[in-house]
Amino acid sequence: MNELQDLQGRHVVLGLSGGIACYKSAELVRELVRHGASVQVVMTEAAAQFITPVTMQALSNRSVYLSQWDAREPNAMAHINLTREADAVLVAPASADFIAKLAQGRADELLSLLCLARPIERCALLLAPAMNREMWAHPATQRNAAQVVADGALILGPAAGDQACGEVGDGRMLEALELCDELIAHFQPKRLAGRRVLISAGPTFEAIDPVRGITNLSSGKMGFAIARAAQEAGASVTLVAGPVALPTPRHVARVDVKSAQQMHDAVLPLAPQHDVFVATAAVADWRPAECGAQKIKKDGSGAVPTIPMTENPDILAAVARLPAAPYCVGFAAESHDLAQHARAKRLRKGVPLIVGNLGPATFGRDDNALLLVDDQGERELARADKLTLARALVAEIAQRLPAR
Ligand code: CTP
Repeated sequence: MNELQDLQGRHVVLGLSGGIACYKSAELVRELVRHGASVQVVMTEAAAQFITPVTMQALSNRSVYLSQWDAREPNAMAHINLTREADAVLVAPASADFIAKLAQGRADELLSLLCLARPIERCALLLAPAMNREMWAHPATQRNAAQVVADGALILGPAAGDQACGEVGDGRMLEALELCDELIAHFQPKRLAGRRVLISAGPTFEAIDPVRGITNLSSGKMGFAIARAAQEAGASVTLVAGPVALPTPRHVARVDVKSAQQMHDAVLPLAPQHDVFVATAAVADWRPAECGAQKIKKDGSGAVPTIPMTENPDILAAVARLPAAPYCVGFAAESHDLAQHARAKRLRKGVPLIVGNLGPATFGRDDNALLLVDDQGERELARADKLTLARALVAEIAQRLPAR
């Protein structure tokens, strides 16, 4: 499945209450539609002061609902009809006043009415607060937010930063892309709920001198996709990353390292606190035995420097040997004879699962194909984008974990 079809078949009611962040909701509706969702926009009277229903209609390709007295509904029950076909109600922006209304179960206009009337078991309510930082921090708003969460709503954000009023602090609505990712994550099955997952990703950089080093072509994309997929599946995720220029997946704790030794020193103490370790990093096998304090200079004679090398610690094997070892998943990047090398590597590293891929066919690319090798045999995950594969791998790992 294409990443952009992550919301295929989902029907979302997008509610807007009053706030300047309504301008971001135009982008949000585009993102949701781009990911395959059908979107029904519902706006409060206050929201229509900030952005026109015509804009939202054009972007969602559906006429917007503004009132519970809407004459289009033959049974005059827009609040019931709109929520019965919805997979989720996302209110973005959710104003302080709107959250207060929800906390009290009030229903004096269509949007709060449909939030109250939604089938609570099968139609989630997600709220993206947007307000001035003093309003968000006010004990009344905090009390109301805690109440709506206790009543089953999910609160997304808010983020900190510059505010429309010129102040800086908590209360900004999440960006459209972030809200879309939150909704996608919400719909993923929670196969790793309550589990802790540690992931190593990216290349390592082994310094030769202060300006040079040895590295490799790993982009980190597969490891970052697995971090995202594990987080979406309900795990709490720690990502130890070599030098890559990738954004941290939402809600993932990231530790940046450079060398194999630093990666080793970061991973080893973390490993016993996790249930799963997925080693996707392309760790350099060797490093220069010494990193000079000064840049190596040409001496004009044409002589080439000899750089003595020493072996790096094997992080995966070291984790697998720990007395309280998590469930270990290794990656094997090979250039040929994938299955044979992956089988041998599984035994050599002492891990239950090895995921094989052909290095030159995956490094830096957005798609990949994987071969899973465990004690039962082999299984192929067909070529797909890395996030789709990561989700499939997470499902495979989840079903192999010992029951708690
Ligand atoms: N790995 C590791 N630490 C190392 C080397 C590798 O944790 N120092 C992990 C990788 O993250 C990967 C797996 O071990 O999950 C396999 O790595 P790979 O380099 O492909 O295998 P090697 O054991 O180094 O064997 P070879 O280079 O001969 O293929």
